[in-house]
Amino acid sequence: MASVMLTGGAGYIGSHTAVELIESGHQVVIVDNFSNSSPVVLERLQQIVGAGIVCERGDIRNADFLTEVFQRHRVDAVIHFAALKAVGESCEQPLNYFENNISGTITLLQVMQQQRVNGLVFSSSATVYGQPESCPIREDAALGITNPYGRTKLVMEQLINDICTAHPQFKAAILRYFNPVGAHVSGLIGEDPGGIPNNLMPFICQVAVGTRPQLNVFGNDYPTPDGTGVRDYIHVVDLARAHVAALDYLLREGQNITVNLGTGCGVSVLELVQAFEQASGRSVPVNIAPRRPGDIAECYADPALANRLLGWQAEYDVKRMCVDAWRWQSQNPEGFEPSR
Ligand code: NAD
Ligand code: UD1
Repeated sequence: MASVMLTGGAGYIGSHTAVELIESGHQVVIVDNFSNSSPVVLERLQQIVGAGIVCERGDIRNADFLTEVFQRHRVDAVIHFAALKAVGESCEQPLNYFENNISGTITLLQVMQQQRVNGLVFSSSATVYGQPESCPIREDAALGITNPYGRTKLVMEQLINDICTAHPQFKAAILRYFNPVGAHVSGLIGEDPGGIPNNLMPFICQVAVGTRPQLNVFGNDYPTPDGTGVRDYIHVVDLARAHVAALDYLLREGQNITVNLGTGCGVSVLELVQAFEQASGRSVPVNIAPRRPGDIAECYADPALANRLLGWQAEYDVKRMCVDAWRWQSQNPEGFEPSR
């Protein structure tokens, strides 16, 4: 069993991955600066797994801090979640995104090399496909960029690939997530966006719980069956389990991989709203609004490669995603820190 550092492990996907790793017998060291998460997550994780959670508070851009963490704990591999991820914000503050995401990754990779830690699982995104030419999207599809956040993900993928080429002992699993939603079945952890949510599922949750009056549907004139945008929503617990499978693959096979993590199913905005209303018993009023700049009509994965290499596939359907998202939201109407 491995000892794994999770950068950004207090965040939405990192916290769910911590649970799955610990429940699979691995040891976890969370490294987070809490720039987009709450320390309350650690108490909740402890409640779920029934054991203490090891966490080092600090910034991955600080090489001295990272070096100390590697020296204090045995680390066999790193799962690198830490990043800024808001597309709109990245257009307003590109330098912050380049600094946090790209410089942070370079510092992490330098310290890993110094400490001779040679396994990396990296959080990439379907955003690296830019405007996809067709769906479902395979990993060998053309890559593109539509915003500075996407640029950071593509650059980080390229940096990691260059290091794998230069140092064959260094192995990486690059995971391209589609649209993670849902929450742990306990309702103790989930997605907690500060301010107005950018993404669809947290916005729907906030309408259902009464925080916001209605959902603006960004366009109903796309060339899709009902005119609204189509995406590949994937339950965050399925996604978390894929990280365990990717880590096991890296440690077992020692091969570099880049794989999509999605269900392969396209779901429209209105279909997700309807599924959520059924799951929650709440109504979600919608207002048809103009298209959001930079949005694409449809984006869904071909997940066959992850299935073949990792022996993994998503298990939870859209109904389950909505049930779990609603349980989290209704038990925590204001997120982890109600006063925030
Ligand atoms: P999140 O914001 O909930 O988690 C990221 C965590 O990283 C936060 O806890 C934050 O405090 C921490 N962090 C950020 N910068 C840091 C730094 N410099 N040093 C230390 N900690 C730092 O985001 P998430 O949704 O869990 O996403 C995790 C990863 O997955 C990110 O890399 C994101 O780009 C990627 N991703 C997310 C989605 C999504 O829809 N959530 C989709 C595709 C890819
Ligand atoms: C967004 C990011 C993408 C990131 C992904 C997962 C943008 C432009 N892209 O993609 O880089 O990888 O999240 O985190 O932000 N929608 C509404 N009303 C809303 C919110 C969304 O109608 O209030 C629609 C969107 O137009 C889209 C769908 O819902 O059709 C999903 O949107 P969202 O959850 O923001 O994800 P993506 O657009 O796929």
